Formats: sequence, C-alpha cells, structure tokens
Amino acid sequence: MATSLDGPLVGTELADHSSMLTGGDGPGSPPRGRAAACSPGRSLGRQPRCWASQPAGPRDDDVPANGAGCRGPSDPRGGWSGPSAATSPRGSPVRDHGPVDERYRGFPDGFFARDDASPDERFYAPTRLVTHLDQAAIEAVGVLYAELGLTGAVLDLCSSWVSHFRVPPARLVALGMNAAELERNAQAASWLIHDLNAEPQLPFATGSFDGATCCVSVDYLVRPVEVFDEIARVLRPGAAFVCTFSNRCFPTKAIHGWLAADDDGHLGVVREYFHHSEGWGTVVAERRTPPGHPGDPLYAVWARRELPTGSPT
Ligand SMILES: C[S@@+](CC[C@H](N)C(=O)[O-])C[C@H]1O[C@@H](n2cnc3c(N)ncnc32)[C@H](O)[C@@H]1O
Repeated sequence: MATSLDGPLVGTELADHSSMLTGGDGPGSPPRGRAAACSPGRSLGRQPRCWASQPAGPRDDDVPANGAGCRGPSDPRGGWSGPSAATSPRGSPVRDHGPVDERYRGFPDGFFARDDASPDERFYAPTRLVTHLDQAAIEAVGVLYAELGLTGAVLDLCSSWVSHFRVPPARLVALGMNAAELERNAQAASWLIHDLNAEPQLPFATGSFDGATCCVSVDYLVRPVEVFDEIARVLRPGAAFVCTFSNRCFPTKAIHGWLAADDDGHLGVVREYFHHSEGWGTVVAERRTPPGHPGDPLYAVWARRELPTGSPT
C-alpha cells in the first residue's frame, strides 16, 4: 500500500520562470507550446500525471493519459493524491534542504522546493514494483543506452527493480532508495541505498565507471549540480551520463521548477544542470520517440565526461 501524501501546488509563481530555462531546441526537440501533463505552470487547469502503485510487473498506465488527475489516497490500489489535494496555503512554499552553491544563482527562487520536503526515505519506503514507462518508451531507453555504448561498469542512479538495458552491462551498480526494489534488479551486479538529496557525494572512486544513467528521476533531485559534479568525477573520461524522462512524475516529490515546465522546458532544465556542473563535453538534448508517437514520449539529455586537456579527440 502506498503512502498518501499531499501538499501545496506552487506552480503559478513558477510558470513564467520556466521559460528562462527552456533550451531544448535542436534536431529532435519536441515542438514548442505543447504543455506536458506534468506541467501545471503552463496549464493550471490540469493536474500532472503521477505514478501509482501496482502489483509486480505491470506498468502504471491506468493513470488517465489526458492529465485529468491522479488518484487520491482513497483509491483501493493505493495511489496518492496530486496537487489538487493541496492542504498547505499557497505563498508558503516548503523550503527543501538544498541549493546553497553559487551555481544555483541562475535558477529562480523556489525552483528546487518541493511540496513534500520530508526526507525521501519516507516517501520511497513502500515497495513499488511497477514500471513508469510503457513498453515502447522502455525500448527507446534501451536503444539509447546501446547507442551510447553503455557497457562495462555502469552506475544507474535513482534505480529500482528495472534498469532497461537491452543487454546488461558487465557490472551494473544500482543506486536508489528502496532495498526491496533494488535487490530484485536482475541486471544489477550490486546495489546500494543512497539518498542523493541528503548526500550528493557518491561513495565511489574517481574514474571508476564507464557510464551512468538516470531514468525518469532527474526531476526529484534538489541538488542536481552537486550530483552531476559527482557523476562526472566517478566517470572515466569519454564516458556518457544520460538522463531519460517522459511526462509523468510523483508530483509531491518533483521540484517545483520541473512541475512548472513543459516537455521542452524539461530538456532545457537538464541541459542547464550539465552546463552548471563541471566536467562535461557537448550536451545533447533530444526527443527519442517520434512526433505524434501515441504512447509515452521519451526525452533524453546526455553528455560525456570531458577528456583531459590535450587529449586527442
Ligand atoms: C519514478 S522511480 C524510477 C525508477 C527507475 N529509475 C525506473 O526507471 O523505473 C524514481 C526513483 O528515484 C529514486 N529516488 C528518488 N529520490 C531519490 C534520492 N533522493 N536519492 C536516490 N534515489 C532517489 C527512487 O528510489 C525511485 O526508485
């Protein structure tokens, strides 16, 4: 049974800010002006889609695809409420533990606040053996991982019981918040519990991974610049880090800046994380499912760990 969580929607005050970070233009970027279901700032009458708990195996695709709302706590299948169930007053956003680094200066106030600022271990304590993407989007994740050559030692951040590789890398390390989910991850050689919001530093040696992934979870990071710094540190030069996401989220745990942005804005936000952190080469932001794709859209932003100065490219 999932927990029931509620809290304020602070999307309106961020609606204008999201455009500051829109930067996903380029080949493969989604068309502008298309409000994502997880974008209350752009479309305040709608509610974001949210994850819901289901028994092992099936995906959570019974959440209305039209963004018509998330299940409330009374739902027998244990969904939890979206922003419509807000109980805290607007104008008193919860302060998350978070950005103090100068490099966050470019982000609007409140960008990294969340409706539920309680420790993440509480929210992620219930085991959710669900998939958060439909099969076509999962396949698109695997295709991209193969394209980027994610083999060898790979770190899957914000991981659970599935990691979406077509062929598992030689040594996959799954990092997440729920032991029961992680220990069922058949592709992982090892796993660990590590709260990236409480402790952005990674417990791994410099240059110890050949790739890193973060699937449908970058929107939960309240200190992404430090986390991205750390990912760059643990990657060997030339290794890729890729964030993939769709248009769904746990709205109470997603940062307000994400909730206020549309799909295009999300590409821009993650691009900014790479630009504000250290050690990355060219950043690529793409829509990976074709325009008009009937299922879950898949977006990806990635970059490779910079080569040392003077190395042959
Ligand atoms: C929507 S699920 C995605 C799981 C998995 N990556 C997938 O593709 O199905 C979000 C995941 O982020 C992880 N997560 C959330 N907050 C986290 C944090 N502060 N530190 C580390 N992992 C976190 C949770 O454990 C959860 O597994």
